[in-house]
Amino acid sequence: METKIFQPSEIKEAAALIKQGELVSFPTETVYGLGADAKNEQAVQKVYQAKGRPSDNPLIVHVASKEDVGNYVQEIPEVAKSLMDFFWPGPLTLIFKVKEGVFANTVTAGLDSVAIRMPNNEATLGLIREANTPLVGPSANTSGKPSPTTAIHVYHDLKSKIAGILDDGETGVGLESTVLDITDPKNPTILRPGGISKTELEEKIGFVTVDQHLVSSEETPKAPGMKYKHYSPNEPVIIVDGNSQLWQSAIAHYQSLGEKIGLMANEEIVAAFSNQSKEVFSLGEKDNIQTASHRLFAGLRYFENTEATIILVESYPEVGLGIAYMNRLKKAAANQYYKDAE
Ligand code: TXA
Ligand code: MG
Repeated sequence: METKIFQPSEIKEAAALIKQGELVSFPTETVYGLGADAKNEQAVQKVYQAKGRPSDNPLIVHVASKEDVGNYVQEIPEVAKSLMDFFWPGPLTLIFKVKEGVFANTVTAGLDSVAIRMPNNEATLGLIREANTPLVGPSANTSGKPSPTTAIHVYHDLKSKIAGILDDGETGVGLESTVLDITDPKNPTILRPGGISKTELEEKIGFVTVDQHLVSSEETPKAPGMKYKHYSPNEPVIIVDGNSQLWQSAIAHYQSLGEKIGLMANEEIVAAFSNQSKEVFSLGEKDNIQTASHRLFAGLRYFENTEATIILVESYPEVGLGIAYMNRLKKAAANQYYKDAE
C-alpha cells in the first residue's frame, strides 16, 4: 500500500480515507497518533495489526469538542468538567465509564471504561470534524519503539502499512498525554504521567493520587499499556545521573568495554565530551526540561542510523514534566543506570 503524505490543506482527502476505514496518522501537541474511525471495528483492528500492539491494550479516543464526550460516556463527573474546561484541548486524557455499543469493541480491549482526549492541533481537530467521527489514536510507532514526534518517524515505522500521514511538522511537548482515571470521581488517579503535571492537576481539582505501580514497580499497572516494554531503540540505553565527572567516568568505562558511545545530554555536556563520543545528540540548554522532553524520542531514534553501540542519556530531576521524562527514559533504559565504581 502506498502511504500518502498530506499537508494540513489536504484534510478533506485524509478524512475521505478515514471514512473508507483506512488508517491515517495525525499530528498532536504530544506525539503523532495512528488514526482510525473509532466506530469501525475493522478499521480499529487494523490499528492493532499495523503497530503490532497487544490486543489487551486499549486505545485513546480523540474528539474535536468537549460537547461530544456526553455521547460516549455514562456520566461526566464535576471534576472532569473542570479539567476539560481548563486543559482541553491539551495533553490530558480522561478515563470515563463507557456507554455500551458506541465504539467498536476492540477500542476498549474489553474494559468497561474508555480513554478520551481532545488534542491541541488545528489540523487534527479539522480532520476529526471532517471525518465526522471520533478517532482512535495510539502513538503511531511500531509497538515497543520510541513514540514519533515527526511525520518522518511515522513513515519510518509504518510506511506501506497505513494509507496516509497528515504532516504538520514537529510535535510540541514531545511526550504523551497524562492519563487520569476519573471513574471514581472522589479519587482521581494518574495512570501515566505526561504533558500535564500532578501539581497542575491539583491546582484545579485538589487531591490527585498516582497509580501504585508508578511508585512501586511490584504493583500491576492499571493502564494496561504501562506494563509493556517501551520506547526502546535498537541499542541499549544507560541513564547517567550526575555531573561531568560521572560522565567522564561513564564514557571511559564503556569505551574500555569496546562500546561506541552515543551521548545524549544538555548542550554543555555535549560540548565537553563530543570528541570522546562517536555520536552526540543535544537535549538543549542545561536544566531545561521542556526542551529535553521535546527532543527525547527524536534523540533515541537518531542513534539507530549511526555507529553508536550504546546510548548514554542524561537524567533530569523528577518534578513537574521531569516525572514524565524520567518515566519514559527509565522504560527505554529498562532502568539501567551507570554507577561509578567508588
Ligand atoms: O499523547 C497521547 O496520549 C498520544 C497521542 C497520539 O494522543 N496517544 C497515546 O496513546 O499515547 P497510546 O495508545 O500509546 O497510549 C494510551 C495509554 C496506554 O497506556 C493504555 O493502556 C492507556 O492509555 N489506556 C487506554 N484506555 C484505557 C482505559 N480504559 N483504562 C486504563 N488505561 C487505558
Ligand atoms: Mg504508545
